[in-house]
Amino acid sequence: MNRASNLTRRQFLHLSGLGLGGLSLTSLLSACGVSLEPKTIALLDSTAAPASGLATPSSTDELVEIRLRAARASYDILPGGATRVWQYQGSLLQGPPSSLHTLPDSYLGPILRLRRGQTLKVHFENQINEPSIIHWHGLSVPDEMDGHPRHAIEHGQSYTYEFPILNRAGTYWFHPHPHQRTGPQAYYGLAGLLIVSDDEEAALGLPSGEFDLPLVIQDRLFDSQNQLDYAANPMTGFFGDQILVNGQVTASLEAAAMPYRLRLLNGSNARIYKLAWDDETPLTVIATDGGLLEKPVTRDTITLAPGERVELYVDFSADPVGTKRRLVSLAFEGGGGGMGGMMGGSAAGLPQGVKMNILRLEITRAGQAGPGLPDRLTLPGFLSKQDAVNSRSPRRFDLTMHMAGLINGRTFEMDSVASDEVVRQGDLEVWEFANLGGGMGMMGSSDQPHPMHIHGVQFQVLERRLQGGSLRAYNTLSDGFVDSGWKDTVLVMPGEAVRVLVKFDHYAGMYLYHCHNLEHEDGGMMRNYRVES
Ligand code: C2O
Ligand code: CU
Ligand code: CU
Repeated sequence: MNRASNLTRRQFLHLSGLGLGGLSLTSLLSACGVSLEPKTIALLDSTAAPASGLATPSSTDELVEIRLRAARASYDILPGGATRVWQYQGSLLQGPPSSLHTLPDSYLGPILRLRRGQTLKVHFENQINEPSIIHWHGLSVPDEMDGHPRHAIEHGQSYTYEFPILNRAGTYWFHPHPHQRTGPQAYYGLAGLLIVSDDEEAALGLPSGEFDLPLVIQDRLFDSQNQLDYAANPMTGFFGDQILVNGQVTASLEAAAMPYRLRLLNGSNARIYKLAWDDETPLTVIATDGGLLEKPVTRDTITLAPGERVELYVDFSADPVGTKRRLVSLAFEGGGGGMGGMMGGSAAGLPQGVKMNILRLEITRAGQAGPGLPDRLTLPGFLSKQDAVNSRSPRRFDLTMHMAGLINGRTFEMDSVASDEVVRQGDLEVWEFANLGGGMGMMGSSDQPHPMHIHGVQFQVLERRLQGGSLRAYNTLSDGFVDSGWKDTVLVMPGEAVRVLVKFDHYAGMYLYHCHNLEHEDGGMMRNYRVES
């Protein structure tokens, strides 16, 4: 029986926006074959996951070629008038049709679905009125393909990217990275998902097709004319008063009583989420930024900072039709108290750390249990701290705020790399991000959390030490950290020092590392590092 096509016809999934009626999400989902027939899980082979999860490009790469424009558009997001946005608009020039999927009725860019080993070629055209460039967040790509601000192009110009997909299966994304304008450009709509699959993941028989659902979470603030209000505070970041999921306000998901794979991206500029089901059902995490965990991990809450991704396995098969749940963000402390725009009399968003609704969910159709989740998802190929060239004296980065964010007392400089920002290609290093306040002669602890991101690599979180700040505040978020997988962004809380193990094993060149609070980044809390061959 072809259960899959029955499911497709019956449209088990809907995402509806307030006042917009039901918008079918079925077309959102990739056209790749849906199969929920129980599968034999192939035994994992230790060669399937090379160190740091990167493959070597093969000569038989399949080319996926797309055109991607950054352009103006407008969408009916709220009742009573369209909202002007900026949007990545894509079209597929070559490759499997499932490689590019445009989200209906959303300002978000297309979802790119690629297989490890394919080569991606992108003709980027900048049609917005300011310089821009695209960064492929989480991917290992050559220096000139990484979207460094020195490569930004003017309105009317184009930039061609071409690189092999080396990363493990996982949920990656792309967004602008021009000098000091990443925050507003992402805010006005420029962002999209890039989903990588591989053979190892396919063998697991995880929910696929319309049961593999990306959820991009962003907060926004609208003015009385329904226009996006970028009321950002340079110290704390931008905070809106409404949560949008996949570009829809008051999003709701009509689901079947089936297992789902939910791919969550925090695509917000500065807001951290403490995700939970309102009925306190625990959350099962199967993947972080850089793909599958070795084993599923269960948490009551999940902390998701800007730039981070997490994939959930959610089995609704025991839920009777009519079951309703809400995915919420619970209240927390230690988030720096950002209040959104307080300047120029503009409306303020809701502060960091207040409870907010994310997504309503209703089971509207009967379904069936799937094959279940294997105990073991992958051999992640983790590295060992003992092999690091600097395990005794980690490379340390002090994160401080003084008017704006600084890293080791320095602000961003377009072309410079300091002597302590040079690493050797192939080296394994321990990096420590220390958010201990002080700096510029000021003692005392910082109150700003910093989601620290390193371009071009996936790293392991080695340890966290709370050395200041409030343990009670810290504990309102720390239970939700998922540190057992590959990461490219790690939240460093006030008073905390976090050590990561990172291997610089693919390309030589100049890359960025920065805070992924986009207002901190634009304010200069970003530096170059150089990988020398
Ligand atoms: Cu997603 Cu340099 O960032
Ligand atoms: Cu990045
Ligand atoms: Cu920061």
